[in-house]
Amino acid sequence: MDLAKKKEENKEYTIEDLPGVGQATAEKLRDAGYTDLIELAVASPKDLGELTGIGEGVAQKIITAARKYANVGQFETGDVIFERRKNLAKLTTGSKELDTLLGGGMETQSITELFGEFGSGKTQIVHQLAVNVQLPPEKGGLGGEAIFIDTENTFRPERVVQMAKSLGLEHNEVLKKIHVARAFNSSHQMLLVDKAMELAKKVPIRLLIVDSLTAHFRAEYVGRSSLAQRQQLLNRHMHDLLRFADINNAVVAVTNQVTTNPGQLFGDPTHPIGGNIVGHTATYRIYLRKSKGIRRIARLIDSPSLPDGEVVITIKEEGIRDP
Ligand code: GTP
Ligand code: MG
Repeated sequence: MDLAKKKEENKEYTIEDLPGVGQATAEKLRDAGYTDLIELAVASPKDLGELTGIGEGVAQKIITAARKYANVGQFETGDVIFERRKNLAKLTTGSKELDTLLGGGMETQSITELFGEFGSGKTQIVHQLAVNVQLPPEKGGLGGEAIFIDTENTFRPERVVQMAKSLGLEHNEVLKKIHVARAFNSSHQMLLVDKAMELAKKVPIRLLIVDSLTAHFRAEYVGRSSLAQRQQLLNRHMHDLLRFADINNAVVAVTNQVTTNPGQLFGDPTHPIGGNIVGHTATYRIYLRKSKGIRRIARLIDSPSLPDGEVVITIKEEGIRDP
């Protein structure tokens, strides 16, 4: 069926529908992370040409065609956005100090990124969130269930049991409301967000965890030549996650490791992986540092609406708490 006819009939089209895109080209586009028309429509000819090896000229033609037929979306009026934002809710982290720093807890309809070195407490915090989300709103929860996308095999039910018990919750019930999936590589990880979207239609999911957001991407896309592609895929992944947060009025919490920039002489040489791409899409970024013993320092970075600042939290047997 030709494109114009499909558009008329309001049918969904695939990238193969674009003029000049056969199966081989479609495959190259998908491998580079361009899976639908909107992604092609907003691509730059230079990036697309380089990432796929089809050349800038062909890339330009594909982009022009994609712009014509992509479902670019609609304008929303301010009152609709206002109405949606009225439903914003906050999820407690277990630490009152950290909640206050975040303006009341982790916010729904946005992404919170936890970054820091190994052992800084990222995985411990997301376990705590998976328990807390099940609490009723008057106790700082969202009365919902959690999805845990686990990329490094770090989910520990035993730890959930400890945390649940200390809140007086029946631990088996708590475990039943945490839906865990292992992601074997970055493509699988991205696909699991679609699966999460499906599950959220049946189950009241109010928290989506990705621990770790960047580990697979970092391992699979090594070296300068694959950096652009890695960033492009991470960008898409982040936008899928944000969409999940919006549609389900859910908290999305992602963890991220840091790298050290050895050449840097001034300031903190540690930087989160994924740099600006992850940073710009995450609404809240929390930088975790180790301190003495069970203490960790949590610093809020570059928040659009809250002052930067830091607090001390502790990782105890019962979970994340104030010192
Ligand atoms: P990476 O994933 O390696 O980058 O680190 P991370 O930031 O996820 O660190 P994680 O959250 O796994 O923190 C590990 C630290 O939490 C350990 O060093 C312990 O100090 C603490 N911890 C882990 N499990 C327990 C526990 O059962 N009880 C207590 N009290 N502390 C724990
Ligand atoms: Mg971890």
